[in-house]
Amino acid sequence: MGFKGKETVAYRSDSSRSKQLYEQGLKVLPGANSRHSVTMDPYPIYVSSGSGSRIIDVEGEERIDFINNMTSLVHGHAHPAIVEAVKKQLERGTAFAMPTEPELELASLLVERIDYIDKLRFCNSGTEAVMLAIKAARAFTGKHKIAKIEGAYHGTYDYAQVSEGPGPEEWGDPSEPVSAIEPSVAPSVKSDVIVMPWNDIQACASIIEKHRDELAAVLIDPLPAALGWIPPEPGFLESLREITRGYGILLISDEVISFRVSYNGALQEYGIKPDITALAKIIGGGFPVGAVGGSDEVMEVFDHRKGHKVHHGGTFNANPISMTAGLTAMKLMTPEAFDRLNEMGDHVRSRLNQLIARREAPAQITGKGSLFWLHLTDKKMENFRDFVSNGPEKSLFHSFSQEMLGHGIVYAGRGLSCLSTVMGQEELDAYVDAVDASLDAISF
Ligand SMILES: Cc1ncc(COP(=O)(O)O)c(C=O)c1O
Repeated sequence: MGFKGKETVAYRSDSSRSKQLYEQGLKVLPGANSRHSVTMDPYPIYVSSGSGSRIIDVEGEERIDFINNMTSLVHGHAHPAIVEAVKKQLERGTAFAMPTEPELELASLLVERIDYIDKLRFCNSGTEAVMLAIKAARAFTGKHKIAKIEGAYHGTYDYAQVSEGPGPEEWGDPSEPVSAIEPSVAPSVKSDVIVMPWNDIQACASIIEKHRDELAAVLIDPLPAALGWIPPEPGFLESLREITRGYGILLISDEVISFRVSYNGALQEYGIKPDITALAKIIGGGFPVGAVGGSDEVMEVFDHRKGHKVHHGGTFNANPISMTAGLTAMKLMTPEAFDRLNEMGDHVRSRLNQLIARREAPAQITGKGSLFWLHLTDKKMENFRDFVSNGPEKSLFHSFSQEMLGHGIVYAGRGLSCLSTVMGQEELDAYVDAVDASLDAISF
């Protein structure tokens, strides 16, 4: 039963509105969507509205949203302060080919909070932020290759997409993974992107050493979502920083999601500073956004007064709607708000761990702060290959998430879940209860 004692399964009926909309969608959108992350078998649940932690589907059924638009809505849906601020800005105009004050205010707030960002520039997505980070690294170092972690997702810029989710037949040697591309990427990109295994510092060190004269940057996500938030082993990130610095290779930290875990940036707790950081998601307050930031020295590549080395345009960059929403959202994210969110994350992880132990279920929890992931396997996972091979069959994820949906809980893909500041005990209890009931209904 759902969090209000009611099963939320109307979307499954033959006459469901979601089914009808999906069929209409197939006629005008390939696969009926504009974003692969919203696909679901046999069809997705169409949403009608969202408020706070709840969303209402087109059948009129309510669920608690633990996806929050892929972690971007840190204050849930239609937060009154953000709605109010955006309404005011809407009336003043939505976009100008001139700078506005909200851009400056949001930039100042982020620069003040994140110790390793002296200057930043805005764009409209995490994909663009990572792309600009890579371009800046090339322009700054005069070198052109990058290294990235096998399986890590950094958006859809060609170079960042290499080996974003390769199949086992494409993997090659675990300590020197093959660079795999999808057919949309030019084959020449393969040789410019070197792939490294997560958490294997020896392998990374020897790969970086081998390519040291050509590498502009090493791109990492401190808490890689596409690897199910398998945490970095102690010392892994610190060693990568040391090695890259030694060879004059820049370290790019993709904190598009992981900025959620800390007021001062995801790498702050490790005591290391990346040269360039990509941000997006929560800094837009629910609107399209991205930002690339770094040291004064590196960010000079964007400065027109210095004969910029990276040409950076973008019709809607730093538009005042995204900036105003982002500024309002980030102002609400005080250190106390981060602490509370992180404590709620600890609470839910601990409850889920207790539940798994009590049930002796083959499952485990990863994640940090407000990000958590229930894996339906108890096998050890240290890297992308473990994540892919040790996980259960796709059909098991599918049955489990259908059960969770029926119990009024929305979470993403293979287990990605996150909290928002408008959640409290009721939402956490509902999640844990739904997991308990859903585990009853599936067989491993
Ligand atoms: C770590 C990471 N980097 C980059 C991106 C791309 O961001 P966007 O979807 O805003 O283009 C994502 C998106 O989920 C991400 O998780």
